[in-house]
Amino acid sequence: MLRPPWVVLRTYATDDHTNITPAIISKLGIQLHSQPGHPLTTVKNLVESQFSDYAHLSSFSPLVTPAKNFDELSFPPDHPGRAVTDSYYVNRGLMLRTHTSAHEVEVFAQGHDKWLLTADVYRRDEIDASHFPVFHQMEGARLFPTGSRGLQELKKDNAILEKALSLENIKIEDNTSITPENPYQDVHDPYEAQAVTTNLKLSLNALMLRLFAGAGGISRQNPLHVRWIEAFFPFTSPSYEVEVFFQGKWLEILGCGVVRHSTLDRANIHGKIGWAFGLGLERIAMILYSIPDIRLFWSNDARFLSQFTPGKISTFQPYSKYPPCYKDVSFWLPPTGLHDNDVCDLVRVVAEDFAENVERTDSFSHPKTKRNSVCYRINYRSLSNAEANEIHSRVKSRLVEQFGVEIR
Ligand code: PHE
Repeated sequence: MLRPPWVVLRTYATDDHTNITPAIISKLGIQLHSQPGHPLTTVKNLVESQFSDYAHLSSFSPLVTPAKNFDELSFPPDHPGRAVTDSYYVNRGLMLRTHTSAHEVEVFAQGHDKWLLTADVYRRDEIDASHFPVFHQMEGARLFPTGSRGLQELKKDNAILEKALSLENIKIEDNTSITPENPYQDVHDPYEAQAVTTNLKLSLNALMLRLFAGAGGISRQNPLHVRWIEAFFPFTSPSYEVEVFFQGKWLEILGCGVVRHSTLDRANIHGKIGWAFGLGLERIAMILYSIPDIRLFWSNDARFLSQFTPGKISTFQPYSKYPPCYKDVSFWLPPTGLHDNDVCDLVRVVAEDFAENVERTDSFSHPKTKRNSVCYRINYRSLSNAEANEIHSRVKSRLVEQFGVEIR
């Protein structure tokens, strides 16, 4: 597998903050969200198709300074997220991003007004069916010019979105209001801030419809239920969370809000106002595909990966009940002999994760010719016997080619 260019063997200084583990390091650069056919990739593409005229960004290094992850986004110095118990540090000066918002200032500074960014993010957490210390987020943002030009653009866009949504099977519950705890920002013209907030809500309601309308039998009689809730983030005001009612439960899908003026200031962007959101890809994929355990996304097992077709949402079929599939291979050893480990490595290369187990079940020496024969039993975790046969015959030819054995 090719890893991106920033994954290079490098030595970093360690200090009293260092808490990154080998298990976490092994995940760096894997980029599940770029693997063709992976459910996270399909969900990412679905979000990107909803924002088709946005810049689609995805190759940012997960190693960031705490300044980038926190200070640039106005997190207070004593924010709990900074603690070594909550975040992974290489050392005091370098950490793994805890959210895709870490790249907001950088991307705004590059001049992007409409963008989506997909990346792996890292948080120290317990490991269970719905938590994993590495997961994937998508950040999205849109900026408008302040003043009459921006207001015109906003009004036009809002009218189009509103009309499109009114025709759809969606029921939106929004009891949020502007309060002293969740206000428009002082620096903003309240009319503009209101129009941006409306644009944020309409854009994300349309996204929810795109993501979930096909799932769970949404119809006129059974519309998609979306709920807006007031929230707090240090880098947006007002701030909200969006929840979707799915299989009897309200599920939190994303956080969002009107971008803090200070964020744009740090990016040296002036005369603009806009919104941003951050959503978790695993959560959405688990819902859409009925994937019961977040750890499955990391599986190299063909029984996981082979279930998915690029661009298609399908219902995941649990596979733990597949029976073992044993295949034997017997051969005469070459005069130089052959180590068990050589056989195992060859099987690993040819059969990859299909082979669960390799065991030598017999050794025998011909009394007259003195030639030695061995038998290995390979257990293929496979969907079908035909598939196992196919791989097994490749293992056999490779044994002949590579080690000059004679199959019996
Ligand atoms: N970064 C926030 C999180 O991870 C989500 C968010 C993104 C909120 C953008 C507001 C704006 O929870």
